[in-house]
Amino acid sequence: MNRAAAFDFAGADALVIGASRAGIGASIARALQDAGARVEITGVEADCAPEDAGRFAYTQLDVTDTDAVQDFAKGRNTLDILVNCAAITQRGAEMAPEFFSHVLDVNLTGSFRCAAAFHPALKAAEGRLINIASMYARFGSPRNPAYGASKAGVEQLTKSLAIAWAPDRIRVNAIAPGFIVTEQSARARQDPQFTASIEARTPMGRWGLPGDIVGAALFLASDSAAFITGACLPIDGGYSVA
Ligand SMILES: NC(=O)c1ccc[n+]([C@@H]2O[C@H](COP(=O)([O-])OP(=O)(O)OC[C@H]3O[C@@H](n4cnc5c(N)ncnc54)[C@H](O)[C@@H]3O)[C@@H](O)[C@H]2O)c1
Repeated sequence: MNRAAAFDFAGADALVIGASRAGIGASIARALQDAGARVEITGVEADCAPEDAGRFAYTQLDVTDTDAVQDFAKGRNTLDILVNCAAITQRGAEMAPEFFSHVLDVNLTGSFRCAAAFHPALKAAEGRLINIASMYARFGSPRNPAYGASKAGVEQLTKSLAIAWAPDRIRVNAIAPGFIVTEQSARARQDPQFTASIEARTPMGRWGLPGDIVGAALFLASDSAAFITGACLPIDGGYSVA
């Protein structure tokens, strides 16, 4: 049975921050483009993934650099859809206070920097902001304390911005992916025992793929979600309810 929803974003301008590694951000960017949107992407690397070269306008942008983010937003009068995907994590290293701060700066403050810089453009378009949180917003993670704290912050920030910007008719929502096969999870997936334990613990019996996140992102960006703001939607094959 194939009953996937079809969305129409013809004429919409979308920007996906952190879409350079052919992961979740790139999947969302491709789906928005396939649905008719004009899509730009960013990443911290000099270039985007080779498979996306030429497909999107690409800008190298470090989300910890306030001036660079503000410069990037300058001159953009309207933006319909902003997706905040940039994030880092490093198992073990996050117990060091300096690295802990850096993870928060990228994942949490970086999301806020981009949201704040594009607020006027989103307001002009009555746009939609989608933040990518994580299942680890809710679970403790002994080897990734900064990542979990940052993602809890992203979920909370989503609620606050949803309230603050509702009068501007901007909707703000989040998605909380579970275990997804991307570059970010590549190191953890080198451990076959860990990989198998995730499959065993997940009711749906598998890791997610970046494409599994796309439907929810398009839905939240669409008018089908016209009365949804401040929500955080888990996409984890049931992991968080088992
Ligand atoms: N992969 C998973 O299992 C998983 C699970 C839950 C949530 N997520 C979240 O989904 C989002 C996308 O993750 P992914 O797995 O596709 O990761 P990824 O590693 O493939 O992509 C991360 C992106 O963040 C960008 N980035 C990193 N540091 C940056 C910086 N300082 N400035 C600007 N951009 C920076 C990278 O350039 C890249 O485009 C992230 O927010 C991540 O936390 C991923």
